[in-house]
Amino acid sequence: MQTMEIAAILPKMKRDLVSIFDLSKEDIEQILALSLRMREQPPVDLCKGSILASCFFEPSTRTRLSFEAAMHRLGGAVIGFSEGANTSAKKGETLSDTMRVIGGYCDIAVIRHPQEGAARLAAESCAKPVINAGDGANQHPTQTLLDLFAIRECQGKIDDLSIAIAGDLKHSRTVHSLVLALTHYGVRLYFISPEPLQLPAGCAGELRKKGVKFSFHETLEEVLPKVDILYMTRVQKERFHDPSSPIPHLKKNHLAKAKTTLRILAPLPRQEELDPAIDASPHAYYFQQAQGGLYVRMAILSLFLQKTKKGEIF
Ligand code: CP
Repeated sequence: MQTMEIAAILPKMKRDLVSIFDLSKEDIEQILALSLRMREQPPVDLCKGSILASCFFEPSTRTRLSFEAAMHRLGGAVIGFSEGANTSAKKGETLSDTMRVIGGYCDIAVIRHPQEGAARLAAESCAKPVINAGDGANQHPTQTLLDLFAIRECQGKIDDLSIAIAGDLKHSRTVHSLVLALTHYGVRLYFISPEPLQLPAGCAGELRKKGVKFSFHETLEEVLPKVDILYMTRVQKERFHDPSSPIPHLKKNHLAKAKTTLRILAPLPRQEELDPAIDASPHAYYFQQAQGGLYVRMAILSLFLQKTKKGEIF
């Protein structure tokens, strides 16, 4: 990637990343290209002197630790908390006041919160850029960027792929952001879930508006032989639990009829929907996917902190 290409997009990007629709396709492509650069040639001191506020009101392993590791890898510092119960929210402070105060201590903030819309409120309250690390069942845009990075890494492209997305499609914020981002690409989508956990009408409407071909299914078997990517999600038990709506479970024997080039992705954590016996299979790509999150979040922090030197990043 040319340095001037990166510099050229900075004025056009929004200050905050709350929804995947805050990014144009051009922005997404630039972040993916920069993520590759972060992996191959990490610029160690790019964020030296900057402070990330890592504000997690909900549990996380991958998102929180990869954002924090990304900031450390870039030479910056991290403040924050991993549960709201350790903040003055416990004493009744509003999210708006909390984020307004945190904005005075940091240069960029990442927030995860159980309520839909919390990231937007945080962005409106904080004087510094705010990145949504998951707000309720709404969106998880940085997960989507690492999902797209993984798809391109394992298949060499995003366009012209057949992609199946299985599980609790109704409550999965990773699914919502990913589906909306895929409207930028020439993909064929297959959605596999029980009817009560189907994709929200709003996401399906966006697919129709953009002319993306998609269909709904109830079993993995009817779709698996056709697809290049299988994206497995868990039941979002923290938002919903209905044992009468069991989601598809992927077992090793299902893969006998898959294309040899099929790659399985998952935002993780997994429950029983993704059999650990699959981990050793060449189809499994979910741990590499999680590793890519580090490079993608290095790219996101660099761009949203506008770390430029005379108009150039490197
Ligand atoms: N994929 C994801 O958001 O994982 P964590 O909940 O561990 O951050």
